[in-house]
Amino acid sequence: MDLKGRDFLTLKDYTPEEILYLIDLAAELKDKKHRGVVEQPLIGKNVALIFEKTSTRTRCSFEVAAHDLGMGTTYLDPTGSQIGKKESIADTARVLSGMYDGIEYRGFGQAIVEELAEYSSVPVWNGLTNEYHPTQMLADMLTVKEKFGYLKGIKFVYMGDARYNMGNSLMIACAKLGLHYTACTAKEYFPDAELVAQCEEWAKASGGSITLSDNVMEATKDADVLYTDVWVSMGEPDEVWEERIKALSPYRVTSEVMANASKNAIFMHCLPSFHDLKTKIGTQIYEKFGLTEMEVTDEVFESEQSVVFQEAENRMHTIKAVMAATLGAYK
Ligand code: CP
Ligand code: NVA
Repeated sequence: MDLKGRDFLTLKDYTPEEILYLIDLAAELKDKKHRGVVEQPLIGKNVALIFEKTSTRTRCSFEVAAHDLGMGTTYLDPTGSQIGKKESIADTARVLSGMYDGIEYRGFGQAIVEELAEYSSVPVWNGLTNEYHPTQMLADMLTVKEKFGYLKGIKFVYMGDARYNMGNSLMIACAKLGLHYTACTAKEYFPDAELVAQCEEWAKASGGSITLSDNVMEATKDADVLYTDVWVSMGEPDEVWEERIKALSPYRVTSEVMANASKNAIFMHCLPSFHDLKTKIGTQIYEKFGLTEMEVTDEVFESEQSVVFQEAENRMHTIKAVMAATLGAYK
């Protein structure tokens, strides 16, 4: 499987075989890392990491993975460069292509990362946009595979804002890889009809399926995976909290939901998560709306069924696989 020179902007652009190859490569690289095997196939190369939004997992994953592969990194934070303010995306792409072997971009519209890729002569990797979060998908699918041993036929339920980056990307990943995906949320948070139709086509080919439901008990019955994300995403205005709390509170992942799922069900979350009052925003929301937990209860988050930290670790191994494959280190 030769992915050398490819961008990684959304899983829409990748075949099921290519996605599975990246997941398997990540599992191999994870095993090597755990065994203390050091390989630096990309020594002498450098990558630029552009973050127009904040990050813990994605940034750390790109940095650790790049260093493990032998590469140097430059982190461009949300305020410290010329990007977008004094220099266009097209000019930035051409400047960075002259110095770096790959560029990661986290930011707002998908059109921005697409433009960056169009003008770059080196691979561009999407570290999250409003629409998609493709590197997260590889980590999530690797985690499901580690827990269940397979992907095809898994009943995967996503609760929350199903029309944003996480909902969109999970629906695409499940459709391509043959999982049964359900968006369980209020009707106004259902994914875009055009994307649903496209995913239904992929699901038809893979043996998966797409379901939209606003009925929690029906949708989560016998689920293998319960997945959620924050109700308000980075870059959205504070004013939307009130409507989100009202619309999405019935779709919180609780012990009742977990009990309704299959007995081996796992809980997943891309993180960060508001499951207690130990965050600044969590405390502000508590003061304003009286909620002590949001998209998931603390009980579920801390339960044996929760695999969120394994999932977080897998971000690093999967991002390593993406960089290694697209920079030609492994075939
Ligand atoms: N899941 C995820 O992308 O986390 P960060 O925002 O910390 O990178
Ligand atoms: N939907 C979230 C995902 C964070 C990883 C956001 O965009 O903020």
